[in-house]
Amino acid sequence: MTSARKVHIKSFGCQMNVYDSHRMADTLAPEGFRETPRAEDADLIVLNTCHIREKAEEKVFSELGRMRTLKEAAASVGRRVMIAVAGCVAQAHGREIVRRAPTVDLVVGSQNYHRLPALIARAERGGALVDTEFPIEDKFGVLRPPSRAAIRARGVSAFVTVQEGCDKFCTFCVVPYTRGAEASRPVVKIIEETERLAQAGVREITLIGQNVNAYHGQGPDGRAWPLARLLARIGEVRGIARMRYTTSHPRDMKTGLIAAHRDLPGLMPYLHVPAQSGSDHVLSRMKRRHTRADYLDTITHLRAARPDMAFSSDFIVGFPGESERDFENTLSLIDEVGFAGAFSFKYSARPGTPAAEMPDQIGEDAKSERLYRLQAAIDRNSAAFNARCLGRTLEVLFEKPGRHPGQIVGRSPYLQAVQVMAPQSLIGKIAAVTITEVSSNSLFGSLARAAEAAGD
Ligand code: 5AD
Ligand code: SF4
Repeated sequence: MTSARKVHIKSFGCQMNVYDSHRMADTLAPEGFRETPRAEDADLIVLNTCHIREKAEEKVFSELGRMRTLKEAAASVGRRVMIAVAGCVAQAHGREIVRRAPTVDLVVGSQNYHRLPALIARAERGGALVDTEFPIEDKFGVLRPPSRAAIRARGVSAFVTVQEGCDKFCTFCVVPYTRGAEASRPVVKIIEETERLAQAGVREITLIGQNVNAYHGQGPDGRAWPLARLLARIGEVRGIARMRYTTSHPRDMKTGLIAAHRDLPGLMPYLHVPAQSGSDHVLSRMKRRHTRADYLDTITHLRAARPDMAFSSDFIVGFPGESERDFENTLSLIDEVGFAGAFSFKYSARPGTPAAEMPDQIGEDAKSERLYRLQAAIDRNSAAFNARCLGRTLEVLFEKPGRHPGQIVGRSPYLQAVQVMAPQSLIGKIAAVTITEVSSNSLFGSLARAAEAAGD
């Protein structure tokens, strides 16, 4: 153990990066690094970056400008600060980052961050270091597990990466290039990680992967297990009361997984399954491998399996060649499904992807106008969904103190934040809550009956 140093890790982008940031912190802890929420106090600053859209990438470089100022201020009082860039921008740009931002000491790709302790030691001896080769060893085999204290500090709901990378190659997307080929972790490793989390008080597990429902990890019987089987096994872990998984591809919503929504009571009835567009013309140019009808069919089957199922999606507006009519098909899909929520993005041309080369790029003004209309349709649907919750009794997993004294806040099965006047002792437990008030981004409710401890 070396003397106590402080690390500040800032995550951009998706839940996978949040998970990776936690694992970086866990791996640096035995090296004597304590986490700090304040970049000013840190000896090591890690930016865990996202490359999915141009804006995400720009954010990293503007953040690096700020970090440079901090580093120079520290140097003026004789304190050395190291700056590392990790994640998908690191993977995509490697050495170019150091050229553009010489303040950076270390660039580490999304498959290499298990090597952080060794890389930091080398970078400390001088010279910027770049490690973005896809390694032979599996980072998950090397990463340190979180301490009990770290798990507790992160709360009662935890992510577990079960799958990484993507082989779908949608024509707009950089993920297959930055995260690499689709790969699944073995069942035994995932169960070990889940048991550890559960023993420290975690009640809800969200299995994450760029294409999580393509999961096909090796089971203890030596055979490839589909996600449905993995979920059934996770549901048996003592203490785990709730399960979710994200992000799913419509094409991989197979019969067995749909049936899991009927058969596994712990599997929450809320699914994020990106449609991207409601137009077959656009879907085909996106190479999504599903049509509007396929998508709607999947939703129908899921609702048949579990009638209280709700959905969220991602949508892209202004994909090359998207006509007004194509766009209207997206608007009508939103109303037809009645999404509880959705994320919407202006198409962003990513260098190296096929769509960036398409000739019929859409102008910025048209994209902005469509985004505005799309968001209005999403907001309308999500407000209607929330309004339908009024008077319903929902199971809420309480996570932390609420906005006001005496309040605690938790999540409904549909991931809505629910504020309730209730004792703090309910944090970490599930209780039935009757929804009494609905505002734009929260629900309010009162305890319906005595709380039940979840799982034990
Ligand atoms: N432009 C805009 N949005 C994109 N997404 C992925 N690539 C792009 C891009 N080039 C969106 C998709 C995906 C979400 C994570 O980000 O909707 O589902
Ligand atoms: Fe990107 Fe998802 Fe398409 Fe894979 S399935 S290429 S991660 S949008």
